[in-house]
Amino acid sequence: MSTPPTLDDKLMRKAKVMMVVGARPQFIKSAPIIRELVKSRKQIKLSIVHTGQHYDREMSHIFFHELKIPKPIMNLAVGSGSHAIQTATMMKRLEQSMLTLKPDLVVVPGDTNTTLAGAIVAAKLGIQVFHVEAGLRSGDMSMPEEVNRTLTDHCSTMLFAPTRNAVQNLRQEGLGEKTYLTGDTMVDALFAVMPIIRQRTSAVLKRFELCPREYLLMTLHRPSNVDNSSRLREILAAVRRIARKLKVVFPAHPRTRASLARLGSSAISSGRVVISNPLGYVENLCLLKNASCLLTDSGGMQKESFLLHVPCTTLRSSTEWPETLVKKANQLVCDPKMISETVLAVAFDERLRNKIRDLRNPFGDGRASIRIVQLIRESVETQK
Ligand code: UD1
Repeated sequence: MSTPPTLDDKLMRKAKVMMVVGARPQFIKSAPIIRELVKSRKQIKLSIVHTGQHYDREMSHIFFHELKIPKPIMNLAVGSGSHAIQTATMMKRLEQSMLTLKPDLVVVPGDTNTTLAGAIVAAKLGIQVFHVEAGLRSGDMSMPEEVNRTLTDHCSTMLFAPTRNAVQNLRQEGLGEKTYLTGDTMVDALFAVMPIIRQRTSAVLKRFELCPREYLLMTLHRPSNVDNSSRLREILAAVRRIARKLKVVFPAHPRTRASLARLGSSAISSGRVVISNPLGYVENLCLLKNASCLLTDSGGMQKESFLLHVPCTTLRSSTEWPETLVKKANQLVCDPKMISETVLAVAFDERLRNKIRDLRNPFGDGRASIRIVQLIRESVETQK
């Protein structure tokens, strides 16, 4: 017969924290928090659960290795599917894992289908949900990420906002009382790898046969840009025009590779456009830091570009990072006919680069994860 726990047992008991991740940007923004949580292992038992939304080596495993984060305790192997199928499958499997692991609280980073699935399941099981990167809004509900982040914020217990704008957005939605301004954990992640970037840059540039400031880095994966063949064709026509003046390096997301394959090689054919597999975190940042400019539709890379003082053109009509839209540090372009003109106007502009360098960094001081883990610890202490 087991004896009932004493007050001392209760005080000694470690709080069980589950971190739910599954897609590439989540590994990056969680890594600094995970490293901080590991330092608190006397008080906190951490379980990382991977939904399996991203499953290729280049989209998943490489980040665990590079960012030195422990292997997930479970991989739910959900894989690809329509939004409903992918999210619903995650929810079914996450419910089982939460019932098995019985976490005291669940941390969900970002705005992917994995984020939303983790938040809904935990909230319905009565488990506290802590949302990292809360309060971002692009104002465009046709983006799956906008739906995911808004719903996640509204079913969370604590909201960790990366910027003052994010805090303001949450206040406007009546969520101010649960909100904490922590800074952005992607800044922590970036600052932590800067020495490695410096060390590895020349080898990476050599591998791609590039010289600093003599190429454009491009990434593209939003369904709105790559799933529609005629839009993708127009974007690629613009890229071919840019490539006459500037070499283009294009690490392509699996979704984009599939779309490119459907169009056939003629759509991109140019010796000056290098298409590669998706890159690891450090390699990508080495290329970004030394690029003359970035063309992207990613959320996170708009911000990394700002922090590394590289002019960015974003192929979208809105952004969840409006802080980047100052002094042409980042420009939104939706019309494919405007792409080459916008990119080439900033690519060789040294004065612009200097102006970006002088801009204030609104994303935090590299200590967001320390603040977040402190808040998690305070919260578990008060529950004892
Ligand atoms: C997801 C996130 C997006 C994030 C992006 C980063 C949502 C709604 N979207 O978009 O916010 O910016 O990740 O990459 O959660 N695929 C593979 N191998 C993989 C992963 C995906 O081949 O390891 C292919 C599959 O064919 C799949 C497609 O890529 O159909 C899209 O993957 P999915 O996870 O649905 O969305 P992403 O476009 O990656």
